Amino acid sequence: MAAQNLQSVPAERTAGTSETADAAGQANFDRVMAEDSRIEPKDWMPAAYRKTLLRQISQHAHSEIIGMQPEANWISRAPSLKRKAILMAKVQDEAGHGLYLYSAAETLGQTRDKMMDDLIAGKARYSSIFNYPALTWADMGAIGWLVDGAAICNQVPLCRASYGPYGRAMVRICKEESFHQRQGFEILLELSNGTPEQKQMAQDAVNRWYAPALMMFGPPDDDSPNSKQSMAWNIKRFSNDELRSRFVGMMVEQVRVLGLTLPDDQVRYNEDTKKWEHGPLDWHEFQEVLAGRGPCNAQRLERRREAHDDGAWVREAAAAYAAKQSMKTKEYAA
Ligand SMILES: [Fe+2]
Ligand SMILES: [Fe+2]
Repeated sequence: MAAQNLQSVPAERTAGTSETADAAGQANFDRVMAEDSRIEPKDWMPAAYRKTLLRQISQHAHSEIIGMQPEANWISRAPSLKRKAILMAKVQDEAGHGLYLYSAAETLGQTRDKMMDDLIAGKARYSSIFNYPALTWADMGAIGWLVDGAAICNQVPLCRASYGPYGRAMVRICKEESFHQRQGFEILLELSNGTPEQKQMAQDAVNRWYAPALMMFGPPDDDSPNSKQSMAWNIKRFSNDELRSRFVGMMVEQVRVLGLTLPDDQVRYNEDTKKWEHGPLDWHEFQEVLAGRGPCNAQRLERRREAHDDGAWVREAAAAYAAKQSMKTKEYAA
């Protein structure tokens, strides 16, 4: 890949009539794409590019904060103080990821209030994986290992996304996600080396989270019409199936170290295509969960609404403090 050229022509410099500004903006945008460089918030960008990014980044932000719920449920039931502290830190990291991503989305001209309203009204999507229940402590291991693991596979290429604020947010997020994956792996390793019951609990959690984690990469390439455009815009770098195949290859190696198995007897490396293959996935289930009919969709949104209402006083206090500070600044200036 060409070195990132972070210098791009600001929109103001291309100002003239709106038509000539659009033509100059488009030319700059095309150049940036061809050079595999970056678009920044003040640069001209096609309306469809802005809309695609806004949808992707806000959905990503929603996934981070809804994703706090299945694990937060286990903080009070973690088996030791050490596990409790680690899990709390992880859930807090996810809140931080939501914060970076909402901030990145705001640079595209959408307010955070509007994004939050859409989420709690059930109008916005978030990753289907967080609508599955976390039934046992071993699920904390399987979520970290498989769900954060799939997130890393998906998100490392996004560090090079053509939209600057998104790519930069992803750098820090990916670093934290790799800690999350290791802590999940370590929970499973300890359970796998524990009593037969503990080992069985770890295997059961892997069995339940494996297929939903594979579906996190999105529908098969043939059913993913927007992927091609996202790849042309240097937002997405690899197709859904390509990423899924890489992920399966990673898991095959790691599950051996865990002393567990993947619940899929069709996993194999295809020497001809040089790709890992897996058994069929239930795409009907995926569509049902996305449409709001998964096992925990209603509960997740209800909790999010409650949290939003409970946090109203914090937002009001922050706004009152900001108003007071700005009044003081004006008084000093006068
Ligand atoms: Fe995250
Ligand atoms: Fe994570």
